[in-house]
Amino acid sequence: MAQFELLARCPTTRARVSRLTLAHGTTMLPTFMPVATQAAIKGLSPQQVESLGITLILNNTYHLNLRPGTKVLSEAGGAHKFQGWNRNLLTDSGGFQLVSLSKFTTITEEGALFSSPFTGEPTMLTPEESISIQHAIGGDIIMQLDDVVSSLTPDRARVEEAMERSVRWLDRCITHHESSGRKTTQNLFAIVQGGLDFELRERCLTQMIERKDKVAGFAIGGLSGGEEKDIFWRVIRQCAEKLPEDRPRYSMGVGFAEDLLVCVALGVDMADCVFPTRTARFGIALTRRGPVNLRLAKYAQDFMPIDSECPCPTCVEGMSRAMLHHIITRETSAAQGKSNVIFNRSAVHSFTAVTIHNITFQAQLMGGARDAILNGTFPTYLRTFFATYFEDVG
Ligand code: GUN
Ligand code: ZN
Repeated sequence: MAQFELLARCPTTRARVSRLTLAHGTTMLPTFMPVATQAAIKGLSPQQVESLGITLILNNTYHLNLRPGTKVLSEAGGAHKFQGWNRNLLTDSGGFQLVSLSKFTTITEEGALFSSPFTGEPTMLTPEESISIQHAIGGDIIMQLDDVVSSLTPDRARVEEAMERSVRWLDRCITHHESSGRKTTQNLFAIVQGGLDFELRERCLTQMIERKDKVAGFAIGGLSGGEEKDIFWRVIRQCAEKLPEDRPRYSMGVGFAEDLLVCVALGVDMADCVFPTRTARFGIALTRRGPVNLRLAKYAQDFMPIDSECPCPTCVEGMSRAMLHHIITRETSAAQGKSNVIFNRSAVHSFTAVTIHNITFQAQLMGGARDAILNGTFPTYLRTFFATYFEDVG
């Protein structure tokens, strides 16, 4: 079972530092989890990821179940061995990907019915099946199957139905997980739903917290779907305030630096998003002065590294903005919009260089937040971040 120890609290915000110990080691929270959708962070080896200080990454059940499939993963001895990753791994349950990636998904009480993108065959993903797949993958944290609706849905009845169904599916996931004998190594998280409606969120929170003894942590789902920041933050605040102190809190799909820090201040411990790694493949480097679009002509003769104070190998080895601009604009123009297509070594080289930097940026941002909470300087840390992050538009 996961071990979760609270180490420090910020006296003026709800931010906290904790230590989460799972079967593949210790992860300090708050943390940002890079996303390795296809059992790989695109352009990086697992050793490179680990060398950047990353101790927890995310894989997607939906993608790994399609390819390579649970048979290959089980034969490989689980996704850790398959991808050569020795640290902690979290798998998402697949429901969100089904809804966001497939236009042909129908949700019923039984589960999510979709047509396989390869064979077109109708396939049912039930809560039990999602947990079984996540058992085969072997993640240290596994997520309940939830019924996810877009945060922009105006249909309150549908949001309510999805929230109540997510509670019922949580019970099915708990029952299936408890009967599996996997509880000692794999830890199930519940996912709070309820859209942007405080009353629905409250009801979901009450019901899920009643199951607290059967789950290792709680996620806040159904956000980051294009809703206004003001309501996003209020829902995070409501959920983080009510969720139990002695369980990690995970906001799903949050990856912008400013959102991460606000979430941490509101009491969130974990977050994930494809944004930092995906945006790297489009030539955008994240910095303390905001995102830098290396494709812009103004970087053609900028011989400084992305950030001269950044400890990442790309910056430390002195690869200049001009060099990155050169390879990104020359070699990857054909790859725009087709981020899964690798065109040539040089393109991969620039993806890798910026991805390494962006993962380091997120890790430094969260590591800096942890240090500040421990030292009692978190409010100053927030002020310094917000004083510079929106300074430059570039
Ligand atoms: N990823 C981002 N948001 C969500 C969510 O609400 N549920 C799940 N399962 N994954 C997510
Ligand atoms: Zn760097």
